[in-house]
Amino acid sequence: NTTQLIDRFGRIVDYVRISITDRCDFRCQYCMAEDMVFLPRAQILTLEEIHTIARAFTELGVKKIRVTGGEPLVRKGALQLLENLGLLSGLNELVLTTNGSQLATMAQAIKSAGVKRLNVSLDTLDAKKFKDITRTGDLHQVLRGIEAARQARFKRIKINAVVLKNRNHEETTDLVQFAIDRDLDISFIEEMPLGVIGSHDRAEAYYSSDDIKADLQRHFNLIASTEKTGGPSKYFQVAGTSTKVGFISPHSHNFCSTCNRVRLTVEGRLLLCLGNEHSVDLKKVIRANPGNLDALKKAIVEAMKIKPEKHEFNLNEQPVIFRHMNVTGG
Ligand code: GTP
Ligand code: 5AD
Ligand code: SF4
Repeated sequence: NTTQLIDRFGRIVDYVRISITDRCDFRCQYCMAEDMVFLPRAQILTLEEIHTIARAFTELGVKKIRVTGGEPLVRKGALQLLENLGLLSGLNELVLTTNGSQLATMAQAIKSAGVKRLNVSLDTLDAKKFKDITRTGDLHQVLRGIEAARQARFKRIKINAVVLKNRNHEETTDLVQFAIDRDLDISFIEEMPLGVIGSHDRAEAYYSSDDIKADLQRHFNLIASTEKTGGPSKYFQVAGTSTKVGFISPHSHNFCSTCNRVRLTVEGRLLLCLGNEHSVDLKKVIRANPGNLDALKKAIVEAMKIKPEKHEFNLNEQPVIFRHMNVTGG
């Protein structure tokens, strides 16, 4: 089967990020406003609809599905959905991004459901700062979750840290050491300006990947790696360890020319780019044609024509993307 999704710029789309809920038990400052209003049930896709749309994608050549949120594990039925997605034929990788809050009890079941790799957000190892950044999160709960995930023996676990100047930028060395000691990978992320957050000035909080790398190189020997996960991280091996350090640099090193992904929001919008509003309403298509996979596939193929060339993030301007990260799926 050689079916492929391909856009106007010749980019092959074989990775879909599916946000299965906009809800979350945390309120990370870079992601949400403090007083978020979540979507009403009638507006969101059912788990069955999500599965059907995922199936249409795999029939169109998609090889990797990442389940995101909000916090995906707070949606009732998340495990069953993961298991069903894992059984889709043609899929090479089912992966999950989580804030770690539910892992202490769910890690083993997630592994059994067929998830191979896990990305867990962790921006700081300081309990007070953790509370400050996540507003409602508990560091120790997440650390217990990471431990449970290690016991469950995933193929790979990666830490994601969004780096903010004067908040956690001085902790990157400790975070890398944390990863090394536990045989994990870690990616550092430049904050992206989605939605009005009200907590900090994003231009002032900007700390570039090159700065992070220079800080780390005072302590570790970083060797450029050819590792490719299909995501935007550029990886370096920490010499003498099994840990890879990745940098996701939407501002300083634009990676749009190699974009291979689209996103499905929980409202059923197919977003063609994280940093643009171009989208197609797949909820409308699936509800108008229940059980008709061809109608969905046609809409998805058509959608590739409006995938934009790149994001237009500008930290020095007011956000032009009003949706928050939690409805976008990261
Ligand atoms: P891997 O499969 O491990 O490579 O995961 P990933 O980096 O693709 O996914 P993850 O959910 O861990 O996301 C990490 C960060 O990368 C988040 O901040 C995402 O918003 C960001 N990211 C993922 N894809 C894109 C993209 O296409 N554009 C931009 N600007 N950021 C992205
Ligand atoms: N910019 C960059 N990354 C973000 N994340 C959430 N909001 C933002 C933002 N505004 C990260 C989370 C999670 C991943 C899916 O996206 O920390 O690790
Ligand atoms: Fe929740 Fe993730 Fe957003 Fe934090 S970044 S509020 S954990 S969805």
